Amino acid sequence: MTDQLVGEPFAGRRTRILDHLDRRTPGHSLPGALYTDPDVFASEVDLLWRRRWLFVGTVAEVPEPGDYFSFDVAGSSVLVIRDDDEQVRAFHNVCRHRGSRLVAPGHGSVGNLVCGYHSWTYATDGSLRYAPQLSPAIDTACLGLRPVALREVGGLLYCSLAAEPDGDLDVVAEQVRDYITPHRLDRAKVAAQVDLVEEGNWKLVMENNRECYHCEGGHPELICTFFPTWGLREDQIPDRLRADHDRYLFAEADLARRCDALGMPYALIEELADRPFGFRIQREPLDGAGESFSIDGSRLVGRLLGDLDDPQLGRCTLHTQPNAWIHLLADHVVTFSVTPLSPDRTLVRSTWLVHEDAVEGVDYDVEALTAVWRATNEQDAEFVRNTQLGVSDPAYVPGPYNEAERQVDDFVRWYDAQIRSEAQRGGADD
Ligand code: FES
Ligand SMILES: [Fe+2]
Repeated sequence: MTDQLVGEPFAGRRTRILDHLDRRTPGHSLPGALYTDPDVFASEVDLLWRRRWLFVGTVAEVPEPGDYFSFDVAGSSVLVIRDDDEQVRAFHNVCRHRGSRLVAPGHGSVGNLVCGYHSWTYATDGSLRYAPQLSPAIDTACLGLRPVALREVGGLLYCSLAAEPDGDLDVVAEQVRDYITPHRLDRAKVAAQVDLVEEGNWKLVMENNRECYHCEGGHPELICTFFPTWGLREDQIPDRLRADHDRYLFAEADLARRCDALGMPYALIEELADRPFGFRIQREPLDGAGESFSIDGSRLVGRLLGDLDDPQLGRCTLHTQPNAWIHLLADHVVTFSVTPLSPDRTLVRSTWLVHEDAVEGVDYDVEALTAVWRATNEQDAEFVRNTQLGVSDPAYVPGPYNEAERQVDDFVRWYDAQIRSEAQRGGADD
């Protein structure tokens, strides 16, 4: 996105977002303009979305050489492809001739990447292999696809559009990789992928995901396996939820025993507010049978992931900011990526992964596998839509967070700190 498109000098926009942040009351929801103002959105694209590490998908989406998918964000289209040497790479989805998009949105598989305009042809490693009638004086070695920074963390793929991405993801990767690898995303396949456009600002989507204050009344399917005391400290458990909490403590101790037996990490690491790659990871028990996101908690896939043979491993949940939450279970993984489309529209992509050898109709049923989160996403989309309408209303006044919304507060503090530090650092990076 360029300054010309927005119509106000970049520095002016930057002052504007900082002015709104200066009006923020700590411990309260954000001022309305931060959810609605197009200039704020443009600043966020420049300062956050083009500079932070973004979750784009998993290696299971590109299992074979030549497999690719595109991920559109912040005015860019990123092409993720597995090359002929099995290495996953990322490039700008922009032809080096006259700029045509190389691939349409979505997934596909190619031998070479051939531009549809004048047939410039790129190898899967991005090098220009063939350009019809191009003058021999032009050095084709300089005309390979422009790379995008890519990191793999236990099969999760993160990209950064920054010319010089920060190194924080590499530090975090060391802390979280051992939680993820037992689920063997390199031996998983996509069972389903659903795109949902929510009618709200991307921050409302992330904030909504950072609390379960709304779960008891809002998610009848999800709370069959999410304990209703999630997010509360021991001393905040209301009497009416005491029996649920006792059940949680029992399940938590049982899960710890199982993880210890398998040498799998499960302890909470939570660094949401104070680092560029804010994150949280923990393996937590599920209610009911403790196996999966079904109504009774029993497994949804007969074939467990990787070499796992204990189905009762709860959910390993990873949050990464600005744009992902991921649940890794014994029988499947479900990932969510968030992409801002405009100040009041956000794409949420949900992807369900199962063992590569699991057979649809035999080991799993796609409807049943996806039912709880499809319902939950629709319910969350309604919460987000209603909140967008409310924060756009002149009557909106930011309200206080409670303890169950501690992670929402962490997210908002992270957002504030990242915007301020990037605004100080200077103009657009790329
Ligand atoms: S724009 Fe791609 S070959 Fe011309
Ligand atoms: Fe929700």
